[in-house]
Amino acid sequence: MSEILDVIQNRRTIRKYKSTEPNVELIRNVLQAGNMAPSNGNSQPWEFIVIKGEYRKSICREFYNFSKEYIPKASYIPEDKKRIMLEYAKDLGGAPIHIIVTYPNLEDDIKKGQALKSSSAAIQNILLQAHAEGLGTVWVGSNLNQSQKVKEILNLSEDRLIVGIIPIGYPDTAAPTSPRSNSNSKTQWLGF
Ligand SMILES: Cc1cc2nc3c(=O)[nH]c(=O)nc-3n(C[C@H](O)[C@H](O)[C@H](O)COP(=O)(O)O)c2cc1C
Repeated sequence: MSEILDVIQNRRTIRKYKSTEPNVELIRNVLQAGNMAPSNGNSQPWEFIVIKGEYRKSICREFYNFSKEYIPKASYIPEDKKRIMLEYAKDLGGAPIHIIVTYPNLEDDIKKGQALKSSSAAIQNILLQAHAEGLGTVWVGSNLNQSQKVKEILNLSEDRLIVGIIPIGYPDTAAPTSPRSNSNSKTQWLGF
């Protein structure tokens, strides 16, 4: 159990990667962990697309084009961070492989929400298993994920939506600190 806590506590978003490509078996393990996530009614609504090479380059190009428009206008981003974010947007930190997690675009809003939650749980498992294998990840949940161009690059069918694009690879940076408040400040204990 303490091993799990260790993985959870030490996982951090990585935004700079070595070009070394992780072995496909490692990626399979990561996807298997994603596939073990809980889901409503055990529906397992997620699907995975794994890309590298030209597909990866095309996604990065779209991400950069989108970011060039979006980031300079985003008032909530501090000016000194904008340049760093734009640089990162060029190739999503250089990760050699991306995993894309999709879910069904169901008509019923409640069922669609359940599918999104389940697929998000799959992503969390992916991030944790990747970290346990010495790989870094970032969950990219940008609005760009719903762009028609991105869907075309991925050959995604009309009835699927993207939950996240996950660049994955060997970290080329120390894990950054991203502070957390204590869970006590977010918890009510009723009836204890
Ligand atoms: C739903 C979701 C969407 C996210 N979208 C992005 C994104 O578009 N770009 C990015 O660089 N990081 C993105 N992140 C990563 C968060 O910025 C990161 O998890 C957060 O800053 C906490 O840092 P940590 O993961 O190192 O603990 C996203 C995370 C989540 C859960």
